[in-house]
Amino acid sequence: MLRVDSIAHGGRGVARANGYVVFVSGALPGDRVRARLTKAKRDFGEAQAIELLDPSPDRVPDRCLHEGEPCPGAPWQGLPYERQLDEKTEQIDAALRRLGGLDEFELEPVEPAVQPWRYRNKLEYSFGEGHGRLALGFHRRGSWADVVDAEDCLLASERNNAARNLVREWAQREGIPAYDPRRHTGVLRNLVVREGRRTGQVQTRLVTAPASFAKPPVDLHTVVDGPGSGTDGPTGVLGEEFLAEELARLQLRISPSAFFQTNTEMAERLYGIAAEYADLSGRERVLDLYCGIGTIGLALARRAGEVWGIETVPEAVADAEENARRNGITNAHFAAADVRLGVRPLLERAGHPDVVVVDPPRAGLSKKVIRRVIECGAPRIVYVSCNPTTLAPNASQLTEAGYRLRRVKPVDMFPQTPHIECVALLER
Ligand SMILES: C[S@@+](CC[C@H](N)C(=O)[O-])C[C@H]1O[C@@H](n2cnc3c(N)ncnc32)[C@H](O)[C@@H]1O
Repeated sequence: MLRVDSIAHGGRGVARANGYVVFVSGALPGDRVRARLTKAKRDFGEAQAIELLDPSPDRVPDRCLHEGEPCPGAPWQGLPYERQLDEKTEQIDAALRRLGGLDEFELEPVEPAVQPWRYRNKLEYSFGEGHGRLALGFHRRGSWADVVDAEDCLLASERNNAARNLVREWAQREGIPAYDPRRHTGVLRNLVVREGRRTGQVQTRLVTAPASFAKPPVDLHTVVDGPGSGTDGPTGVLGEEFLAEELARLQLRISPSAFFQTNTEMAERLYGIAAEYADLSGRERVLDLYCGIGTIGLALARRAGEVWGIETVPEAVADAEENARRNGITNAHFAAADVRLGVRPLLERAGHPDVVVVDPPRAGLSKKVIRRVIECGAPRIVYVSCNPTTLAPNASQLTEAGYRLRRVKPVDMFPQTPHIECVALLER
């Protein structure tokens, strides 16, 4: 039996058993739970809650349930929304102070989500064998093999739910078996449903093992051979290849393999804050590192002299170029390169930037990339971060090179989950 008293970075509950710290998945502060210890190290343990003995008095009832179980995509749904926002803000503050040793920045009020539910423009579902029939939904919490059928998932729009149900009905009718990751048998692995929230387009991508079966009612079909849970592989086009979306007054094309923020509405806010921090006058040279399909750079291009983006996925770079063309933007240029290698050639070609925007994956910036960013010599760096525990050391490294962390604004892109997004401004 454990009583959870706080939340750790990453969202797990923290409990203490005779001074021994245990990180508990599936539990919130104030809960008393029965838990199964999954890892016991000298300094701390990890556990999975298996029974809620005495729920926290602060809990609100779970709303998103599948087969009676809380949605694994919404592990914080039991926390009142205001509390989620406070918790995220505190985690950013704690990371910057404790991990980054930073204390002079202004932590601005969190930007709450416009929609606390049904905000995701992309969901990835798994196939499995449920109660003797094909299921399409989510892995049961703590299990990589069992799948619970998704019902009306409240993270997804009605359109997304309907598209998923249609594919499940088709697969059940055709009698196609789910892929079994334990035995490496069967066919159906995943269904990815993406949605242009402002265009109304719904795009479905079926992921299967190599097999022949009736033509599926989807836009894209990806074949993944061998074990593992990845969804990337050779993809055949059966319907619409590209997803169309509108954001920040831009018409966007998104390739299946390109990254796109999963909350369209809040992405627009996020980029708005990045633009405010970039504080452009119309003349600046802006470097957009990890630019994806060009969204941030293109949103800034109208207020900048020129924009140069670097991104490693070639399809995303092709999208960025097409998106510039579609929107009549002629002062934005994009290069397919790893940021580690692409910055120096770009500095030679384009010259030194006035503003560098970085929007890296969760791992943040490596030491080498930090060196490249410092070499840019920009007076201003706008850092869009999806992980405060990597933002903090990165901001600290930039501080050692003469920058000061000025402002940080949390933006809630992922309600009902522990995921944290923020924008930080560093200046020299
Ligand atoms: C968090 S996303 C941001 C994308 C874009 N700024 C946006 O808001 O849509 C990070 C992007 O970095 C790209 N990426 C990851 N590692 C990279 C690297 N080493 N060099 C260049 N791009 C990289 C990914 O493909 C992805 O598009």
